[in-house]
Amino acid sequence: MSTAVASKKITPAKIKTMKGAASLVALTAYTKPMASLLDPYVDLILVGDSLGMVAYGFDSTLPVTLTMMINHGTAVVNGANKACVVVDMPFASYQESVQQAYRNAAKLLIETGAQAVKIEGGLEMVETVEFLSQRGIPVMPHIGLRPQHARVTGYKAQGRNPDELALLLKQAQAFENAGAFALLVEAVFENAGREITRSVSIPTIGIGASPQCDGQILVTEDILGLFSDFTPKFVKQYVDLSTSMRQVFAQYEKEVRSGQFPSPQHCFGIKSAGTR
Ligand code: KIV
Repeated sequence: MSTAVASKKITPAKIKTMKGAASLVALTAYTKPMASLLDPYVDLILVGDSLGMVAYGFDSTLPVTLTMMINHGTAVVNGANKACVVVDMPFASYQESVQQAYRNAAKLLIETGAQAVKIEGGLEMVETVEFLSQRGIPVMPHIGLRPQHARVTGYKAQGRNPDELALLLKQAQAFENAGAFALLVEAVFENAGREITRSVSIPTIGIGASPQCDGQILVTEDILGLFSDFTPKFVKQYVDLSTSMRQVFAQYEKEVRSGQFPSPQHCFGIKSAGTR
């Protein structure tokens, strides 16, 4: 990588300084083409384990493997010149021990070239965040609704009562003290998003966690209208690309079946006016 390219890359350390300055912009990507398209517009690209549902058609994130995250992480890093790339640690790749977490997080960073990892967790993961951070692995913990825990907790918004709010605040502060560079906060009530953001000096990146967060993230396929199996309340669909894509596929089908495509301009050795 040239010095010029290296110097414009947004690092986890830079993300950490973006607390409250201007809203941090983040989206997910699983492939190089998507990462290249997003890169000019976002500060952070998350290679989320949501790819299990969005790209592989699983009914949860649990079947996602470390190999899948490495392959997709590598593809995204190849398309991201500027944005900070964070890769999700999949279910069962870090919960067993701090050593397991370190081994797999290091493998993810070494093999993909990404800059940081994200892990889901409550207070039981504070030691892991500290272990990784102290050994050179930037970590963004994911609190609030945690899809990897959904079999235990269900898919419901968090922070609805004082006890849940107090626990979220305790988790957020503990992760900050453990060395996290940012926090991802998913599906919490508006006051919880605001209170968590106020209570820590690292940026909060929210998904369904109120405009008070320091930044926002959404799943890219959701905002493009490319994934409609399940649409949470916090998703804003900006465009319906599925409809446009179906129109293109129908047009292609029609042209191939009718012999209209390929025309001479798309063929080798058939002369047509104006083509060589
Ligand atoms: O896996 C994912 O895409 C996530 C979202 C909450 C952004 O973690």
